[in-house]
Amino acid sequence: MCGIVGYIGKGETLPILIDSLGKLEYRGYDSAGVAFIDGDELTVVKRKGRLSVLADELTASGRMARGGVHVGVGHTRWATHGAPSDENSHPHLSNSGRIAVVHNGIIENFSELRAYLISLGYVFRSDTDTEVISHLVEHHYTGREKGNLLQSVLETIQEIEGTYALGVVCSDSPDLFVAARKDSPLVIGLGSDGNFIASDIPALLQHTREVIIMEDREVAEIRSNGVRLFDALGHGIQRQPIHIDWDVDAAEKGGYEHFMIKEIHEEPKAVRDTISPRIRDGRIVLPELPWTREQLEACDMIHIIACGTAYHAGMVGKYLFEHLCRIPVSVDVASEFRYRDPIVTDRSIAIIISQSGETLDTLVAMRVAREKGATCIGIVNVVGSSIAREADHVVYTHAGPEIAVASTKAYNTQLAALYLLPLHAAECMGRLPEDRDRQCVDALLSIPGKLDSVLLEKESIQRFASLHFNAKSIFFIGRGLDYALSMEASLKLKEISYIHSEAYPGGELKHGTIALIEEGTLVVCPMTQPALLDKMLGNVREVKARGATVLGLVSGTSNRPQEVCDALFQLPEVDAMFAPILAVTPAQLFAYYIAVYKGCDVDKPRNLAKSVTVE
Ligand code: M6R
Repeated sequence: MCGIVGYIGKGETLPILIDSLGKLEYRGYDSAGVAFIDGDELTVVKRKGRLSVLADELTASGRMARGGVHVGVGHTRWATHGAPSDENSHPHLSNSGRIAVVHNGIIENFSELRAYLISLGYVFRSDTDTEVISHLVEHHYTGREKGNLLQSVLETIQEIEGTYALGVVCSDSPDLFVAARKDSPLVIGLGSDGNFIASDIPALLQHTREVIIMEDREVAEIRSNGVRLFDALGHGIQRQPIHIDWDVDAAEKGGYEHFMIKEIHEEPKAVRDTISPRIRDGRIVLPELPWTREQLEACDMIHIIACGTAYHAGMVGKYLFEHLCRIPVSVDVASEFRYRDPIVTDRSIAIIISQSGETLDTLVAMRVAREKGATCIGIVNVVGSSIAREADHVVYTHAGPEIAVASTKAYNTQLAALYLLPLHAAECMGRLPEDRDRQCVDALLSIPGKLDSVLLEKESIQRFASLHFNAKSIFFIGRGLDYALSMEASLKLKEISYIHSEAYPGGELKHGTIALIEEGTLVVCPMTQPALLDKMLGNVREVKARGATVLGLVSGTSNRPQEVCDALFQLPEVDAMFAPILAVTPAQLFAYYIAVYKGCDVDKPRNLAKSVTVE
């Protein structure tokens, strides 16, 4: 959720921290702060509001321009404990003012630790869980004859329970800072003029491409001329850095008004990059997945586990696996899977879908599935992320960095992977007749070109959005794959435009929710499944009869939707099984333009964060 950064070196620390925090603002943006050592003084500046509030203050006070600061840590916050406020913003100082901490994660035993520290005389100034860390580090630091920051952090992490990525500075040690992680991402950047930490790689790309990914329960001592890595017991660890070869531009807006619209335009390339290397001579090639016909035939259940948009991709995956492989599939929201005592055996396969690879509920649900014996396959975008590292096998989506909080191109690429996997499994199991296999592979290969055609029609979606951005409530109804698509279309709309929206199976509305349809209510109806068209047209008539305005999203040549809908968006001709990966794009554009017309902050919608690393 929150973003943390740190720097030590010859460069000017404050501009580096603010610039790097700017690349992490998608992780949280209700407050921001920095702690830095100037001479032998530790200074903290933190403010409620966007990063720009903090940056303006550092500029107005002349602090930014004055220079001469060579070590510091910074933070952008997504509030968990305590409302967004100056006091609750990070960094949090220890009582002596010598130690400052930035933290991403949740300290689960903070109440007990807080009571203990209060009994020792520590005074708390915020409502956060993080403040216990500042005081605990200080407690261990002052408990020894000569303060040792690294040792104090090592002792502190033995006592805290929960999740954390930490950056800790101490005014007595201007030549180093300390970082630690457990279940919250943290990477170390090795630069020529200094070294860095960050919650995510894009924050470092302007400065370095040599990165060490920290593992759980590791602690690092970062100095300007070197980095030492330790396990939780303080034993040294050697790890080679990895080289990041993405383009820095991939994490910039590149002339688009928002990251979201840029990322929607990247969908054809992202889908092509995800599928092309995995199709050879008309067959699916997935060396990442060593599954065999025997294993697939013995499989008792495929569990698809994910959150949010990735979960909606998983709903499409269920249809595909069941249809193509005839293996039963359950799809779970990760936070439910964890606690519902699911039936998983060593014959089960768990497919874990996550753009970030760091969503805590998804990560822990994967561990649950694994403990119960399932083979875990990750469909993940971020290389080297926690889910990618812990899964038994990983199939990477090649969406590139996704910065906008609302997921777009990641969904299309998750679907691309969710076509590849069941098609490959069906090929392995000998379940797919040769000619149908070829049709499917051809259909998949044609998707990027068709996405290009959808994007050429974006003005018609924009026009429709201009007519409806004042809507109070928008419904999406669909059947089969169109229902799965409707769920994603509705989520996209509500998260960035704040318009109330619901998605329902076409046949379910009349069991209650149709009571909400009144004169002028907008109902969006994807109708891409010819086998279900008659039934859907019946549902469209039901809502029309109650006064709804209907936008149809159609593929195929039938004129019948035209007869009942008020407006239509025509998708390129596509095999029905592949319609969701095309039809989602107009739905994303619709949400985008509605949010723009409403004047919403499209890339940073209220209350949300890109990477949800808390439960
Ligand atoms: O990184 P993940 O794919 O695991 O994230 C899962 C959800 O948090 C994410 O899809 C969220 O729903 C997005 N804001 C949707 O646009």
